[in-house]
Amino acid sequence: MAPNPDIILSLDDLEKAAMPLASKQARDYWQSGANEMISVRENLAGYDRYRIRSRVMRNVANVDPSPKTTLFGKKYDYPIGIAPSAFHQMATHEGECATARAAKRFNIPMGLSSYSNKPFDEVKDAGDDSVVFFQLYVFQNRKTTEALVKKVEEKGYKALALTVDTPFLGQRYPDHRNNFTLPSHLSLGNFQAASAGPVDVLIESTSDSRSYSPDEQQQKKKKQEGPANVLDPSICWEETIPWLRSITNMEIWVKGVATAEDAEIAVNAGVDGIWVSNHGGRQLDSTLATIDALPEVVEAVRGRVPVHVDGGIRRGGDVFKALALGADFVWVGRPALYGLQYDGQKGVELMNHILTSDFQRTMALAGCLNTNEITKKSLVRIGPAITKL
Ligand code: FNR
Ligand code: LAC
Repeated sequence: MAPNPDIILSLDDLEKAAMPLASKQARDYWQSGANEMISVRENLAGYDRYRIRSRVMRNVANVDPSPKTTLFGKKYDYPIGIAPSAFHQMATHEGECATARAAKRFNIPMGLSSYSNKPFDEVKDAGDDSVVFFQLYVFQNRKTTEALVKKVEEKGYKALALTVDTPFLGQRYPDHRNNFTLPSHLSLGNFQAASAGPVDVLIESTSDSRSYSPDEQQQKKKKQEGPANVLDPSICWEETIPWLRSITNMEIWVKGVATAEDAEIAVNAGVDGIWVSNHGGRQLDSTLATIDALPEVVEAVRGRVPVHVDGGIRRGGDVFKALALGADFVWVGRPALYGLQYDGQKGVELMNHILTSDFQRTMALAGCLNTNEITKKSLVRIGPAITKL
């Protein structure tokens, strides 16, 4: 019997209720991270090194939790979105369409993964103006990527979120041990029409490649005929951003920047936005918590482009803290998957409800009437300072 939804008051409760309903393979895929999962834990712990300085007696009867700025010309209801993640049909038959409908219901945006099960056009139809970002993985076979980029642009996606922290997939022990594969009744929705040749992402990037070092993977690729539909580890600022510019008019954001140095290069490369992320701790292990990487990125960017952040956001207070440290917007990954597994579209709506209402309550209790009032002054840091070497 499904747990009583009344007891699900936090995203932690949601995870606990949803995970027993999932297969071991799915549960491990969602919950795990790279290597010893230091970054997974750090993303969560980072938020607890800040405390909120609350102001009182400010007539908080009507708090406005909407974002400070529009996103692609649209005012969403909350500065919170659903981050792109792969294979939503592992959680529910409706897959990414369920996620999109739940986002639309709350007037929040979502990003669609290159590795979605549902095709980009169906998801766009399901979520309409809530489906704005198409998360891009650039393949060695650039023709496949180019065709896909053109199609998502035609369909009305507003921006590419080019994932820059994944030249190779991180080493996730549980997936390796489970010999992770996409269940045979599921497929990759975006490559059916767009691909030039078979897409081996699951074998090459998600399963087989786990046994190879990057060097061995390179050797293996060389033996294949022509460029394959697998992640291209040669993507770089000098080549890839201009190449994308030459094939699309969509905005180009980079997802996975985590240092001031890269933020400066990204702005100079002409990107339209920066998404601070460490892929939910699934790529390089032992990185800074994203909440700790955010301030240096915000400082380097100096307002020239928007700065978004994801990783470890589970409570309204976390959203509040990220905004106070300069993020324009935050994104959540795993909690949407937990919601999907728990009860499909309704489960994601429950996730949205918990997080958005907790954010609004946090604002009121902190004495902030709108998101402009959430500033550095709203926080203190209690943990040890970060020392650059
Ligand atoms: C992801 N993420 C991700 N990112 C991306 O750019 N493309 C993708 O296909 C995926 N797939 C994916 C699958 C799963 C199971 C997870 C958990 C995550 C990363 C995602 O966009 C986001 O950066 C993190 O999930 C944010 O961290 P939290 O909220 O999960 O802690
Ligand atoms: C992941 C890839 C698909 O994190 O982005 O599993």
